[in-house]
Amino acid sequence: MSALAIEAVSVHFGGVTAVDAVSLDIAKGERRALLGPNGAGKTTLFNAVGGQERAAAGSIRLFGEEVTAMPPHQRAVRGLARTFQITKLFPNLALRENVLIAVQAFHAGRYSLHRTALSYADLQLRVDEVLLTWGLRDKADAMVRHLSYGDQRQLEIVMALANQPRLLLLDEPTAGLSSAETAMVTELIAALPREVTVLFIEHDMDVAFRIADRVTILNQGRIVADGKPDEIRADARIRAIYFGTTH
Ligand SMILES: Nc1ncnc2c1ncn2[C@@H]1O[C@H](COP(=O)(O)OP(=O)(O)OP(=O)(O)O)[C@@H](O)[C@H]1O
Ligand SMILES: [Mg+2]
Repeated sequence: MSALAIEAVSVHFGGVTAVDAVSLDIAKGERRALLGPNGAGKTTLFNAVGGQERAAAGSIRLFGEEVTAMPPHQRAVRGLARTFQITKLFPNLALRENVLIAVQAFHAGRYSLHRTALSYADLQLRVDEVLLTWGLRDKADAMVRHLSYGDQRQLEIVMALANQPRLLLLDEPTAGLSSAETAMVTELIAALPREVTVLFIEHDMDVAFRIADRVTILNQGRIVADGKPDEIRADARIRAIYFGTTH
C-alpha cells in the first residue's frame, strides 16, 4: 500500500488547468522531490492533496484510504501534515504558542472523530515534548517575528511534525534561506525517521538531490519525468524544460 496514491487528478482555475490529470504514487518511507518551473502546478497539487483545493477530477488516497472529498482536518487526523510556501506562522505570538496552536488544531480535529479531547494541561505537556525533541526550549518564549527567517522555516516544519504525521508535504522548505540555514533545514529533513514519508517541492537542486530517493518533474500541470536523482540529472530533456538550457 502506498503512502500517497494520486490518480488522474486535475485542478482548474477558471480556464486555466493548473494540474492536468496527474498520477503519482509515493511509497511508504520514501523521500520524493517535486520539481518544476514557476507556475508548473506544484503548490496546486499539494493543495489538492491537503484539501485546500478541490480536485475537479481524479482520486487521492492516503495510506489506502480515499480522501478526495475530505476537508483538510480529516486528512490531518489520517496522518497528513504540510507546510506552506508562504509562511502561516503567527508572528506576534511566542514560538511556544505557535506550537500550541498546531497541537490544539489537530486534537480538535481528532475530537470530532474519537470524542476524547485532551485537557489544556495535556496539550501543554505535548507542546513541552515537541520543544524538547527539537531543541527549541531556549527559544520557546521568543516572539516569532523576532526569530531569524531560518528559525521560522524550521519552526514550520516542527509544527507540521508536532502531531506525528505519517506523510509530510513541504512546499519549498529552503526558499529564501541563507546557505547555512539551508544546510540546517536540509539536514533536519534528511534525518527524519523513515516512518515519515516526505514529499517536498524544492527549487534548489542540491537540496533536492541530497534528500530525495526519487524526483518527479512537473511542467505545465503535467508530469514530464520521474526517476532516480542520477537519471534526472542526466536527462537533457529535463534540463531543457527546467533550466531552459540544453547544455
Ligand atoms: N488561486 C488561484 N487562482 C487562479 N489561478 C491560480 C491560483 N493558484 C494558482 N493558480 C495558477 O495555477 C498555475 C499553477 O500555480 P502553482 O502555484 O501551483 O505553481 P507552482 O508550480 O507552485 O509555482 P511556483 O514555483 O512559482 O511556486 C499558475 O498558472 C497559477 O497562476
Ligand atoms: Mg508553488
